[in-house]
Amino acid sequence: MASRVIPVGPFDLVIFGGTGDLARRKILPALFRRFCAGQMCGDARIISAARAEMDSAAYRDFARSAILEFDDNDACAADNLEGFLEQLSYITLDARGDTGWPALKGALREGPVQAFYFSVGPGLFGDLAERLHKYGIAGPESRIVVEKPFGRDLASAQALNKGLAQHFDENQIYRIDHYLGKETVQNLMAIRFGNTLFEPLWNAQYVDHIQITVAESVGVGTRGGYYDKSGAMRDMMQNHLMQLLCLIAMEPPAKFDPAAVRDEKLKVIRALDPLEPEDVVRGQYEGTDERPGYCDQVENHDTRTETFIAIKARIGNWRWAGTPFYMRTGKRLKARASEIAVVFKDAPHSIFGATTGRHRNILTIRLQPNEGIELGVTIKEPGPGGMRLVDVPLDMSFAEALGPDSGDFPDAYERLIMDVVRGDQTLFMRGDEVEAAWEWVDPIIEAWQEADSAPILYDSGSSGPDDALRLMHKDGRRWREIKT
Ligand code: BG6
Repeated sequence: MASRVIPVGPFDLVIFGGTGDLARRKILPALFRRFCAGQMCGDARIISAARAEMDSAAYRDFARSAILEFDDNDACAADNLEGFLEQLSYITLDARGDTGWPALKGALREGPVQAFYFSVGPGLFGDLAERLHKYGIAGPESRIVVEKPFGRDLASAQALNKGLAQHFDENQIYRIDHYLGKETVQNLMAIRFGNTLFEPLWNAQYVDHIQITVAESVGVGTRGGYYDKSGAMRDMMQNHLMQLLCLIAMEPPAKFDPAAVRDEKLKVIRALDPLEPEDVVRGQYEGTDERPGYCDQVENHDTRTETFIAIKARIGNWRWAGTPFYMRTGKRLKARASEIAVVFKDAPHSIFGATTGRHRNILTIRLQPNEGIELGVTIKEPGPGGMRLVDVPLDMSFAEALGPDSGDFPDAYERLIMDVVRGDQTLFMRGDEVEAAWEWVDPIIEAWQEADSAPILYDSGSSGPDDALRLMHKDGRRWREIKT
């Protein structure tokens, strides 16, 4: 199936922190791929700004090696690369001083869309916003893009929102949660609201429970410095998993537009019942003979930071009263496998008798790997021997269903950066959503701190601590297997 790429208009994109890890691993390769796809119509300029002293030629060398290292798309030929690099320039700039700002002002054009990507720690958001204003660089049409972590609790998120709001309106602020840019996550909305099949069943009357799993096989690697101050609750649950929860649970928005979608997501977060300590399981991975445990990978070997978290959440509204949402995420688990499973209730009455066993429909939305959707249905087992029932998957791998090119999904950053240029905030988090999410998780983090409790240790390569299994077992349910 041919992809339909609609070129975006001219734009100037400034990447603050343009020599950083995110720029190298994600932003530059994503822009390059959109360039190769023909979406950047040629009148795009990318201006990277950072503290390092270098000229534009040296920056292009930096960008070339980043793209060669992190872009795995063979379709992007070398001649594309040089064409793309011509659009890049570099300015040495001090976020907290005056160096570079006049040069930046001089480098920007009037007319094209202007976007400023704050690819820096949140500690610099306020400084950048202030200087963009002070030097008359950003106008009412300019957009700023900010990354997670957006605060580490409600108070710090509020302070960040307040700092940005001094110089930018909410409709100029694009808070990235890259999970919202994932193709399958967007598909979640298409499945729910583009089909008549599921929506009538999408409620507590028919859905027994929902499971959201984001399992990673890797550990913290070299990110221990950041991660140890964060942990799975702040790093993954408060943002990525809660965003998935919102998309699964929200009411149908009247339109697929930023205000309608984000209003509905916010209502879900606000309807969440407060978490009880027994609804939360916190774990930390141990080492193996070959791999160090988490506490050996971070400076503080007595660390109590969690690398795994499982939660049973309840949404107190008419649609979901009585349907629990089980969510879990962790590092160093059995496999890299993320999915959402909507587990429907048993048929109200079995006409086939007790011997046919228990059968349930499960709709599985696979985020990674092998993006796709699977609907488990019950059929008669073929052959003689009476009425024996068996569950089979109606499986739709997107790659298989939509043709060979379709498996080549754009990376989340490609979609999100182009949305910034197009001025579409639908897949970005609004300030009130982020604050509401912190409001829900903060009391649990505070309770851990007050109790000075330690996470439960789990084996690297496992499914997490046994207590996470018990979280569901005590409700007579079980997690789906994390498949390797
Ligand atoms: C990031 C977290 O936001 O998401 C990382 O900081 C995590 O710790 C990553 O590994 C997971 O993203 P993905 O797209 O690989 O599932």
